[in-house]
Amino acid sequence: MNQRVGIGYDVHKLEQGTNLIIGGVKIKSEYGCVSHSDGDVLTHAVIDAILGACCKKDIGYYFPPTDQKYKDINSLILLKNTLNIISDFQIVNLDCTVILQSPKLLEYREKIQENLATSCNISQEKINIKFKTEESLGFTGNMQGIKAIVVCLVEKLLEKNGAGNRT
Ligand code: C5P
Ligand code: MG
Repeated sequence: MNQRVGIGYDVHKLEQGTNLIIGGVKIKSEYGCVSHSDGDVLTHAVIDAILGACCKKDIGYYFPPTDQKYKDINSLILLKNTLNIISDFQIVNLDCTVILQSPKLLEYREKIQENLATSCNISQEKINIKFKTEESLGFTGNMQGIKAIVVCLVEKLLEKNGAGNRT
């Protein structure tokens, strides 16, 4: 059994007049995220889903928010660095849900998918992006926050004559 599944979850607080970055894409929005990094809630959840599937702890273990070197960092760089941590695994697919009351995110889907695929070094067809509201309920409903939930399947690379085998 060489396949394993992981889940990633992240929340960021929203505030008027700050940048809203989702999957490396800057969204036209009155509200943005409050965060030590660029506040890319989706990319953070993707990183945790990948690490979870590979049993490699979590995002804060490798990229602590207390470390000044991660201040305002582009989270796609953290995602690329995550691939070095899980070099004995191959990502099979990612299924992502972003929960935001507004604005509508449909027009950004392809660019987000492209950014994540490039950063994960996999084809776009292995990544699905979904957007949801929570019907005006709770902290996403009143624009206090944004959430992302990601499921990742990985496959452990087989050792063959000391080299990785992706079959
Ligand atoms: O949350 P709700 O069921 O109303 O969302 C309906 C559809 O609206 C979603 O399937 C998605 O295509 C789109 N949507 C979006 N941006 C959001 C929330 C939802 O594009 N922020
Ligand atoms: Mg985060």
